[in-house]
Amino acid sequence: MTDRYAVIGNPVAHSKSPLIHAAFAWQTDEDIAYEALLAPLDGFAASVRSFVAAGGRGLNVTVPFKLEAWQLADQRSARAEAAKAVNTLIVTPQGLTGDNTDGVGLVRDITANLGVTLAGKRLLLLGAGGAARGAILPLLDAWPAALLIANRTAEKAHALAAEFAPQSQGAALSAASFEELAGRQFDIVINATSASLNDAAPNLPVGIYASGALAYDMMYGKGLTPFLHAAQAGCAMLADGLGMLVEQAAESFFLWRGVRPQTAPVLAWLRSEQA
Ligand code: ATR
Repeated sequence: MTDRYAVIGNPVAHSKSPLIHAAFAWQTDEDIAYEALLAPLDGFAASVRSFVAAGGRGLNVTVPFKLEAWQLADQRSARAEAAKAVNTLIVTPQGLTGDNTDGVGLVRDITANLGVTLAGKRLLLLGAGGAARGAILPLLDAWPAALLIANRTAEKAHALAAEFAPQSQGAALSAASFEELAGRQFDIVINATSASLNDAAPNLPVGIYASGALAYDMMYGKGLTPFLHAAQAGCAMLADGLGMLVEQAAESFFLWRGVRPQTAPVLAWLRSEQA
């Protein structure tokens, strides 16, 4: 019998996850169905329960339910615990297992798809919300020389740096306001703010990009995001979050099916659709 999976969110109709997982299923010959599930804003838990009761085997969770999914999970992986957010639910005989594949998806896109090494690099992470939080531990696990978290509201960045200090594994972990970035340079700058949703870019000082730096936006869209558009002036290598989307999906697929799909052809196909 075909195993059922879904992405649950609100809104969710725009999600590319059904396309990505259909491509993975075709490629790996796994017998799954994957749909988009719109949950009422006050009905996340009930929607999950009815999906599971109807035989659903797993869910991807998207905006705005990742924290609720974390709360709902009966057990959680270490990376979900660190992220305080769950983007993958796995139905097990022991209940719902919550995991978070966003951070590892980001790291894989940077290292495997873009061919950029994180080890020994000076990293700047912009933002201190859920998206930034989920990225911190996977980035630290990749052995950067330094990770600076900067946020419009600097106190939130300082709180995150303090929270993750015990897991810094030798990296220089610190926090700053955007203004305090003036005069500093970074090899990799990752935008984890939600500024693009308002068609805005974080207000950064000029000159923060080291020679050969990468500007990476977790968001994606047709054309350059506002952050990448602004970065263009000082940075040659630009990447949006479409690769991260495909990589986090591949990791979820692996958690559910025990099979690792090839991401490159799926990413290339999505890019051609986006052009
Ligand atoms: P998400 O789950 O996407 O991370 P969030 O938890 O609401 O969403 O966090 C949004 C992040 O984007 C915050 O770091 C926010 O900065 P503040 O903490 O100062 O609010 C950041 N952000 C949103 N709009 C921004 C803008 N126009 N410029 C800079 N940062 C912005």
